[in-house]
Amino acid sequence: MEPIKVLTKNVDKPNSAAIDTYIAGGGYESLKKALKSTPDEIVQLVKDSEMRGRGGAGFPTGMKWGFLPKDSPMPRYLLCNADESEPGTFKDRVIIEKDPHLLIEGMIISAYAIKSCPMSYIYIRGEFYKGAMILVKALEEARAKGFLGKNILGSGFDLDITVHRGAGAYICGEEMGLIESIEGHRGQPRVKPPFPAVVGVFGSPTIVNNVETLSCVPLIVEHGAEWFKSFGQPKNTGPKLYCVSGHVKKPGVYEFPMGVNLKELIYEHCGGITDDLPLKAVIPGGGSAPMLTPDEIDLPMNFDALMKAGTMFGSAGIIVMNSSTCIVDATWRMSKFFAHESCGQCTPCREGTNWMETILDRIERGGGRPQDADLLFDMTDNIGGKSLCALGDAACGPVASAVKKFRDEFMYHIEHKSCLPGTKRYRRLDMPVGAH
Ligand SMILES: Cc1cc2nc3c(=O)[nH]c(=O)nc-3n(C[C@H](O)[C@H](O)[C@H](O)COP(=O)(O)O)c2cc1C
Repeated sequence: MEPIKVLTKNVDKPNSAAIDTYIAGGGYESLKKALKSTPDEIVQLVKDSEMRGRGGAGFPTGMKWGFLPKDSPMPRYLLCNADESEPGTFKDRVIIEKDPHLLIEGMIISAYAIKSCPMSYIYIRGEFYKGAMILVKALEEARAKGFLGKNILGSGFDLDITVHRGAGAYICGEEMGLIESIEGHRGQPRVKPPFPAVVGVFGSPTIVNNVETLSCVPLIVEHGAEWFKSFGQPKNTGPKLYCVSGHVKKPGVYEFPMGVNLKELIYEHCGGITDDLPLKAVIPGGGSAPMLTPDEIDLPMNFDALMKAGTMFGSAGIIVMNSSTCIVDATWRMSKFFAHESCGQCTPCREGTNWMETILDRIERGGGRPQDADLLFDMTDNIGGKSLCALGDAACGPVASAVKKFRDEFMYHIEHKSCLPGTKRYRRLDMPVGAH
């Protein structure tokens, strides 16, 4: 399969973030077209495209928009999730920094489609300072051209967009944590239901969509639902950004139609494995996705195929590990992240993520007990599905899959108090615990 340049068609242009560059390439024409349709027609178009959200859960976008209550007296809100906090994920950043007007145009059309109130927010993680500043400038340009503000292009539709910077917390990428954070509270998710489409930000019906999802909307309006569906497979449609990192020769963000073969992506497009070592494991959908072994990667990268393979497509953050990787260390690294990022609100996640990290750390340091592999596996069973939000499930994905698929390596580590020969850890054990 050949790479495509659909979502990324502007990113290599000089001065790609400027509004004039965007307009010269046909930008904001989709907005003009959309404003001549009714909001319901746009919702139907997005439904027909079968687009699924690019933020992680893969929920059909048009269906989500359709969940907004018809009879609520409350204003509706559109929130753009630009938190991009999933380990191994760095695709939204490319759109934000290189083609911010694609996102802004997508937000205006989406806000029009869901009959949003005149204020919309982009929630961006604190670390993306550069991206936040690019967005602020781009929004100013859009206002100056009349694409934002009152009576946009004479349509009677009013909208402004504000950039809201977070403080840098994984949990604020979870839609309810994000909503709490925008309201000025601690980023602690709320229990669902009610879902945001019914009770979201400021108690109002709210749609939360990912940057890449919203950026697809102008393309769907421009080319139509059938065109969008021509990329990919049924119910797994559209152009897609894949983030590839770790032990590949050419890491980066790649664009393909949905469903590019994972093995082909790694070996042909990303140049294969560093040092020409054998492949050991692949995390296919961001840090929370269960690991795949080399014999499991000959499959299309889409939502359904990965679910069938017992893992998940998530945010399409592909992390590749070669045979030099100590799998206990790699699993500890991921566990450390989730333990650190747990918001602490619910007991299974707060205690469980920390406990898993502690056990992995003791195995890595040579203090593992023979029953630790079973204990870890058992713990994932007691955290997954039992936490308030999906962070608990996310924390279990790498641990459960690593223990199941690399059990012999865990047992070797426990028995010999060292990494498997030929593998190494990527952290220094003599560093203070908090330094990692
Ligand atoms: C712990 C956690 C972190 C998340 N982080 C992000 C994130 O950084 N960006 C994102 O778009 N979605 C993230 N999500 C998913 C959001 O909750 C939500 O499903 C998504 O923003 C919806 O957008 P979409 O329908 O366009 O995919 C996260 C979910 C969880 C449970």
